[in-house]
Amino acid sequence: MTSEIEKLIIRPARLTDRDAIFAMSKEIWGGTDYLHLVWDKWFVDPNGGLLTVTLEGEPVGVSKVTLLAPGEVWLEGLRLHPRLHGHGLTKQINRYSFQVAAKHHPRSIRYSTGAGNAASRHLGESRGFWLIARARWMWGKARKRGRLNSRPAQVRELNAVFRFITDSDCCRATGGLYGQGWKFPELTRTRVRDLITKERVLIYPKLGHLTAVAIYDIGAIDGDVCLGFIDGPGSQVGTLARDVLRIAGGLGDSDASAMLPDGRQADLVFNAGFNLIEPARAVVYELGARGFSDSGESFEATMWRALYSAEESIADALTGLLVARASRELAGQNVRDFVVRHLLPGTQKEMYGKLEVLTTRLKTYELRNIARAIFEHFMTEYGMAGEFVRFGKTSVSFVYRGRKIAAMRPNSRSFDLILGPGAGPCFPREFSPSADSVRLDERHFDPDTEMYESVTLRLSKEEHGRSARAAIDTLMRRALGNGA
Ligand SMILES: CC(C)(COP(=O)(O)OP(=O)(O)OC[C@H]1O[C@@H](n2cnc3c(N)ncnc32)[C@H](O)[C@@H]1OP(=O)(O)O)[C@@H](O)C(=O)NCCC(=O)NCCS
Repeated sequence: MTSEIEKLIIRPARLTDRDAIFAMSKEIWGGTDYLHLVWDKWFVDPNGGLLTVTLEGEPVGVSKVTLLAPGEVWLEGLRLHPRLHGHGLTKQINRYSFQVAAKHHPRSIRYSTGAGNAASRHLGESRGFWLIARARWMWGKARKRGRLNSRPAQVRELNAVFRFITDSDCCRATGGLYGQGWKFPELTRTRVRDLITKERVLIYPKLGHLTAVAIYDIGAIDGDVCLGFIDGPGSQVGTLARDVLRIAGGLGDSDASAMLPDGRQADLVFNAGFNLIEPARAVVYELGARGFSDSGESFEATMWRALYSAEESIADALTGLLVARASRELAGQNVRDFVVRHLLPGTQKEMYGKLEVLTTRLKTYELRNIARAIFEHFMTEYGMAGEFVRFGKTSVSFVYRGRKIAAMRPNSRSFDLILGPGAGPCFPREFSPSADSVRLDERHFDPDTEMYESVTLRLSKEEHGRSARAAIDTLMRRALGNGA
């Protein structure tokens, strides 16, 4: 990369950027970029920060940070002139866009892109975004004739309509969003009310208890009707979809679009007439995993632990699917071996191998068996394997949220199980599991709860195994925040 293209300047768009931006846009996606259809609207959008990326004063790119509702930020319009692609310049655009987004005190930051847009997907996935929905973008020929078989919902029906929506598979599949073209706003009560007021919520049947609902909106790109939510029994979904095509026809449009989650709803709507083109595939990303804040264990760590603890049953489930899908009859055991070798991390095999080496210090089979059972308990109940386990020369430690919270240390005729500190106080003064010795650590006594945060159990007999596992459960419940 030459030094002169290292520094981009990103600033709010100016009207004088227009020609250069439109010229740049013609080079994108083989000339099919829609930016020229929206740039003027975006420029005057009261909710949107339209940004221009410049290099030596020349506009060379775009980014838009839209506030869909208070705290609901939508990123769109990311473009860079193709002559600058591949130089890692996008991080500068992202950094500035995030600064603009931060000013809105966002509760959520989302964007969508084509399922095949590898650069855009990589950008999100490597910067903390998680896939929240997969959707299909479809087009149907508008219907010029016929009366509607459904009717617009009325504001007094808001409760029933909103309940229907939030209970629906369609809403679940989009993570509570709906498709407004390639934008996916949240289906909040306020927004549903607003859409009802605009007569964009259709309900079926016309009389009586509602059993199907569709929501359409007028897309931001070229004013097309876009069906963005639909649910109900199959035939009624078809009826509502055809009504949306009639509404588009009534508006004088030649076609209408639909952006719906992958699966049943999209299939039904496609078959009801939204079949003008092969559907395009969209993916929606959201910053951060839902329900995970900085204070707790990360989403990834929780997932890895879940995977490690369930590797055996995941292998069984995948084996079943692959055997059913394969083009010829296969031996289940071979398929399972393939799954474990190629599709799963295979952590258990590695863990047992390392444990075997460590426990050679233990002189009896009985002791080694107890050690293995305890290790297995950490692994299969709590997913403490892989990066959550650290093997040393004389001990093995278990790590939770970056802290060592337990360890096993083999001696020759016994081994120590050290529980805590690090998970929080959870062992009462009268804690007396079956063991050769139980040593509550006075340095880690919590006067508020009158509990100890750490205990060391010396184990040597078969019957010690069970009480050791119960003690581990106490510790892990505390660590996971369930047993405080
Ligand atoms: C999206 C766009 C701005 C990215 O710019 P770029 O110059 O191609 O990408 P950069 O060189 O800045 O690389 C950005 C990151 O994406 C990665 N990347 C780029 N192309 C990639 C590809 N085809 N597959 C996977 N990753 C890719 C880079 O490795 C880099 O990752 P890193 O920062 O973790 O190292 C540009 O490609 C563009 O304008 N595309 C057309 C419009 C578009 O698709 N916009 C997004 C719509 S949501």
